[in-house]
Amino acid sequence: MTRTILVTGGAGFIGSNFVHLLAKERPDWRIVNLDALTYAGNLENLTEIEGRSGYTFVHGNICKEEDVERAFDACEGDVTVVHFAAESHVDRSIVSGMPFVEANVAGTQVLLDVSRKRGVERFCHVSTDEVYGSLGAEGYFTEDTPLAPNSPYAATKTASDLLVRAAVHTHGFPAVITRCSNNYGPYQFPEKLIPLMIANASEDRELPVYGDGMNVRDWLFVEDHCLAILRVLEAGREGEVYNIGGHNEYPNIEIVRLILETLGKPESLIRFVKDRPGHDQRYAIDASKIQRELGWEPSYTFDQALPLTIQWYQSNADWLQRVRSGAYREYYQRQYGAEGSRST
Ligand code: NAD
Ligand code: TYD
Repeated sequence: MTRTILVTGGAGFIGSNFVHLLAKERPDWRIVNLDALTYAGNLENLTEIEGRSGYTFVHGNICKEEDVERAFDACEGDVTVVHFAAESHVDRSIVSGMPFVEANVAGTQVLLDVSRKRGVERFCHVSTDEVYGSLGAEGYFTEDTPLAPNSPYAATKTASDLLVRAAVHTHGFPAVITRCSNNYGPYQFPEKLIPLMIANASEDRELPVYGDGMNVRDWLFVEDHCLAILRVLEAGREGEVYNIGGHNEYPNIEIVRLILETLGKPESLIRFVKDRPGHDQRYAIDASKIQRELGWEPSYTFDQALPLTIQWYQSNADWLQRVRSGAYREYYQRQYGAEGSRST
């Protein structure tokens, strides 16, 4: 039986890494990528995949039922949905929450409804540890930690998690939810901490550190996140939540210093700026459930993968330059301005 993975948001950071991983690890699976190509969606992330047999790109919005239907029409055989598409940046959600409600909440419900109608085999909802809120100096988020989101971004991700939960409970919908900590690696849009700091330091520009720089995040290399999702797709239990994280906590200022050191740039580039409103103090994941039940654990250490990431941005300076200049969006406007799909 043919199998299709319908990936939403496959032109974004984690989604494109996941498409690359699937092409390598499961070459016989068909892939349909449904993406609206917002500012964060970049088909340049998928240049090597574009001509591949069994890959179809569908330009469309998960909020529009007809677009989601179009993506399903491009699938063959059993369909599994992996749902990455979202507005993903906390700072943008603080400026304007409504796009987050539309994409993350309404979009997820539309996708759930069509997926249920189409009888999908499995639906993996890609969520975040930010639904649990913030930790103090001690402790870890487990799957049983109460949901207490603090930013508009986190609140809309929590709402989408609850809609998925309700679909499981009410309709017996075959969904699983993953909640991962902060990712880093190739193709991350340079508005997030690590690529922003690499990009600024490379150009000898100031590195804006919020508050005192002592907020802690638990960093995971994106490939390890993608491998965890693949494991959950293939072996996770229906209706379950799986936390994903690497036991890799760092205060922001240490990350910034490491980047400067690796690039041979001076610490005088660091600029402490006004704190983010409602800034969560610390995230840290207890990933023992996925390790115990599915045998997943990270394969990269931070010492290995941070230099790899920095090297990737250095070797892909053109990609970075185009993303920062917005030139790629003009290209998409020309290439994909009209709704459409490209199939090979
Ligand atoms: P991203 O912003 O890089 O990519 C999002 C992608 O979704 C883009 O390609 C964009 O064009 C697409 N998209 C947005 N709205 C859409 C819509 N309405 N219809 C169709 N496509 C749409 O995000 P990311 O960092 O790759 O995150 C992917 C998912 O993983 C998100 O759901 C996010 O909440 C979750 N997550 C991210 C992290 C992280 O550290 N980046 C950690 C845990 C979970
Ligand atoms: P970010 O990459 O936006 O991820 P999230 O807010 O989802 O965790 O930010 C990671 C941490 O880095 C967070 O504590 C905020 C901080 N930060 C800065 O100090 N300066 C910046 O310019 C950015 C974008 C983030």
